[in-house]
Amino acid sequence: MSDPIGEIRRQALDALQIIAEEKALASWRSQYLGRRGAIGALFGTIGGLPSEDRSAFGQRVNALQAELSEAFEAREALIQSQLLARDLEEGEIDISLPAYPRRGGGLHPSTRTHREFQTIWADMGFQVYQSRDVELDEFNFTLLNLPPHHPARDMQDTFYTKDPRVLLRTHTSPGQIRAMRELGDGGTKPIRVILPGMCYRQEQVTARSEIQFTQVEGLAIGRNIRMSDLKGTIAEFAKRMYNPRAKVRYRASYFPFTEPSMEVDVECFLCGGKGCRVCKYTGWLEIAGSGMVHPDVLRNGGYDPSVWSGFAFGMGPERITMLKHGIQDIRYFWDNDLRFLQQF
Ligand code: DAH
Repeated sequence: MSDPIGEIRRQALDALQIIAEEKALASWRSQYLGRRGAIGALFGTIGGLPSEDRSAFGQRVNALQAELSEAFEAREALIQSQLLARDLEEGEIDISLPAYPRRGGGLHPSTRTHREFQTIWADMGFQVYQSRDVELDEFNFTLLNLPPHHPARDMQDTFYTKDPRVLLRTHTSPGQIRAMRELGDGGTKPIRVILPGMCYRQEQVTARSEIQFTQVEGLAIGRNIRMSDLKGTIAEFAKRMYNPRAKVRYRASYFPFTEPSMEVDVECFLCGGKGCRVCKYTGWLEIAGSGMVHPDVLRNGGYDPSVWSGFAFGMGPERITMLKHGIQDIRYFWDNDLRFLQQF
């Protein structure tokens, strides 16, 4: 019985083996792999086969097509390397010409700040916990003491998915619950983590606010953690991040997931606290929201608040990156404009 597939395979591979230059190679390709080539013709015969043979035949033709394409590429590479060798030998390529400059990649300015943060926090004993961007409403709000219809939900305009239970996290705080549940071993182990990541809010995009931005959340849970630990830890971070003599100040504030809550300012590192445009002549820059983890939140993470306590904080690295590099407009961050990115 004739085997047209096997026959074409043999012919094609035999012919390919003796091809030594590019023109012949191109005509081989159109003869076998081209639109009107032999493989196409084989596919064309499928319709005339008994229906029970069609699928096996089609599979063999597919396999042959893949085999021939691969053989073609190998032959092409071989011929090109031979041509190159010949050109070099005959002096047609001047290898003393300067090469085209190669553009090196760089790290995104936000990535740089995140790495700096991570190094500092890691040195202070905090491990990185990677939580998720797509969250449940329950974790983003309810378990953080923001039940449905709680007015503080309005502080964060939210992107919901079609399923109203699923959203893009508006802050990194829901990772607190996940970290406690995953690392706390049923509320029996202390933890110390930072949770970096992208957050999303349905906001008007302006030079100062974007619909996406990053945060670095921090969480420490232990048996004897007190407000003074929080203050000392943040002050130490500020010294390492901004300047060894950085002064910090704490202002009472409100967050549903911490009690008490405070906001942390660092002395403006651009004017040294004298007052300038960047710090709006206050001499201070806000760097974090923070507080002692609310008993309800501890409970939701699996801890008994009569035994365990903890502190948490949330920081926004973009602000810092902008100040450090004099970036005037937050929209540059995620525009993917190479003119911006190549400066770093
Ligand atoms: N999640 C808050 C926000 O995005 C920031 C924050 C405040 C985080 C206080 C905390 C905290 O962990 O304790 O506005």
